[in-house]
Amino acid sequence: MDFSFTLPETNLLFGRKTLLELGTRAKQHGKRALLVTGKASMRRLGFLQKAQESLENAGLKVTSMEGVGPNPTVATVQRGIDIGLKSGCDLVVAIGGGSTIDAAKVMAVGIGHEDSSIWPYIRCEKETTDRTLPIIAIPSTSGTGSHVTWYTVITNQDSGEKTAYSSRHIFPTASIVDLDIVSTMPPKVTAETGFDALAHVMEAYVSNRANPVTDVLCLRAMELIAQNLVRVFVSPDPDSRRAMALADTYAGICITSSRTIMVHGMGNTVSGVYPNIAHGQALACLTPPIMRYNIENSGEKTVSKYCDIARALGEDVARIDRKNATKSVEAVLRIQKAIGIRMGLKDCGVTEDSIKKLTDYSLELGMGAISCNPVQPKREDIVRIYEQSL
Ligand code: NZQ
Ligand code: MN
Repeated sequence: MDFSFTLPETNLLFGRKTLLELGTRAKQHGKRALLVTGKASMRRLGFLQKAQESLENAGLKVTSMEGVGPNPTVATVQRGIDIGLKSGCDLVVAIGGGSTIDAAKVMAVGIGHEDSSIWPYIRCEKETTDRTLPIIAIPSTSGTGSHVTWYTVITNQDSGEKTAYSSRHIFPTASIVDLDIVSTMPPKVTAETGFDALAHVMEAYVSNRANPVTDVLCLRAMELIAQNLVRVFVSPDPDSRRAMALADTYAGICITSSRTIMVHGMGNTVSGVYPNIAHGQALACLTPPIMRYNIENSGEKTVSKYCDIARALGEDVARIDRKNATKSVEAVLRIQKAIGIRMGLKDCGVTEDSIKKLTDYSLELGMGAISCNPVQPKREDIVRIYEQSL
């Protein structure tokens, strides 16, 4: 086999004012919607009310589930499942960031299987089947790609274990990217989620699951991000918002097939043990040391790919060699500085004495992503990279 590529099973609407289409789309999939959202932003900005109106105008009954927080937990998901089961929902609609969409995906699993004990599904001890309710995703951030991926990332609040799992049954049935919604992101969220999208495509591009289909999308997304991430942070305009939303969508399609690498395997662990650290922020601290590690220890093919990344990010690369490959790291550091993201985990609150736990959890929960890294790290490599990221 040369390669394998998975097409998302998602109908995507992309543009301004697309939220107005929600009701028409939703009524093809259900009659009673569980409308899931985050803590405050979507209600404050009026989009939650617009979503509810659109659903009701199309004849659907709506039950709300508000309050999904960043790095969503099993407890939050269970609350949503209880609400959904009590009100007899047959469809889940998520409007919010990646956390809201991820939580909603697992609510759809739990309600569909009439089972609120959800951790065994996430650990793949119970099977996610086609009983899962249909999901409609409306992202309010541009970074996780969750609206087109088959992943969800959930934290067990008791142990701090944060882990991703995939199932084709949690591909959103429909996704609505409304540029008016993502244009409301404040600068810090724009920076953190924009960096997440960049991390996705850099990782999918060097992953040992990379393939010719995602390579094209990855490179194009890197160019879009190089041209627009700093701009969207400093002085956002409709064009830069559109470009980032598009790059986010490309990136989601890429990680579904080509997966992520060590950066996500180790970064998810950080946000599980330290739930106040945003996903994109954790990735930003780990990305440069892992890029250096991969460039130093990998073969010609990966070195050449890091040269491509450097080029896509605007660096001048005349020859393909290890030295020029490190220009990709310089480009990333330059972008990080320009978007005001923190560079070290210590500044984010991580202490040195937690490195053992972070390493143990990464080796247990992050192996899916770590196994796709172009270089297979030993335990001591992971410890050293956490130390370098502090
Ligand atoms: O809760 P609200 O009030 O909505 O506030 C949120 C939250 O505080 C706020 N926010 C979101 N959109 C906004 C906004 N504020 C104003 N205007 C808007 N338009 O931003 C904060 C962060 O939101 P969150 O949903 O946590 O951020 P993000 O979209 O970065 O999602 C991160 C989660 O996605 C997972 C991450 O692990 C993390 O848990 N990921 C999911 C993936 C997937 N399903 O395929 C892949 C990714 O690699 C990622 O791991
Ligand atoms: Mn990510």
